[in-house]
Amino acid sequence: MIMTPGLRKFALTAHVTCSVGFLGTVAGFLALAVAGLTSLEAPMVRAAYLAMELTARFVIVPLSFASLLTGLVQSLGTPWGLFRHYWVLAKLVLTVLTIVVLLLQMEGISYMAAVAAETTLTSADLLGLRNSLRTHAAGGLLVSLVLAALSIYKPRGMTPYGWRKQHEQPAMPGDARMPRWVKVSGIMALVVALLLVVVTFTGVGGRHGPGRHMPSGDAGNASAADAADPAIKMSRRERSAAGLRA
Ligand code: HEM
Repeated sequence: MIMTPGLRKFALTAHVTCSVGFLGTVAGFLALAVAGLTSLEAPMVRAAYLAMELTARFVIVPLSFASLLTGLVQSLGTPWGLFRHYWVLAKLVLTVLTIVVLLLQMEGISYMAAVAAETTLTSADLLGLRNSLRTHAAGGLLVSLVLAALSIYKPRGMTPYGWRKQHEQPAMPGDARMPRWVKVSGIMALVVALLLVVVTFTGVGGRHGPGRHMPSGDAGNASAADAADPAIKMSRRERSAAGLRA
């Protein structure tokens, strides 16, 4: 169903507000992650990890879903469609992937906040997890910038489905030729996915996954609920600190 011009503007306002708000909050999260890693002042480090948890839980996650939802409305309520243009399809895939990675990171973010609340972190504590949060935040910001650029430039290129819908007849060979930017992006995405699979399953570069930076042993499977439990939290913290300083 195509929206009326007034409704379309209203929906677009909501979409741009949520999406660009998401981008800005991820940038703020990255600044906190860098401060948590580099600051030599204990209160600043503690404040950074506590603020990161609050920002992620109450702003970044809700905005990511709002951006996806309002994006779906923009696609389905305008002639753009959801599967007709490569740029819209690329936004959908990238946004869903970003949300999946974000949700997987929440466990580590909560764990860091729980540890920071209980104890004073030294610059060597939980370094793997802290580096990982910074790197994922930088990746999230980069993807959000790509999404914003895709939205503004709207690179040409219709999917075969889009062509069929537009002409209401099967696409002629060559009609729905895939644009070069889609081919290049697809190859790059395949290479990155392949590298991730190799890193994950061969163990090159250490274990990978949401729990990999948690303290070893059973703590490797720490859940957010565990991290929220002060008793478990402290014992993990102690084991971790002992391991890191040994
Ligand atoms: C963080 C993710 C996203 C960002 C930063 C973003 C950003 C934007 C921006 C800035 C615009 C306005 C462009 C303009 O009017 O020239 C826009 C429009 C649009 N977005 Fe997104 N978006 C995101 C996610 C999505 C998703 C997930 C979808 C689809 C599932 C989507 C579909 C659309 C469509 C179809 C329009 C055009 C609306 C129109 O012309 O009426 N967006 N987006």
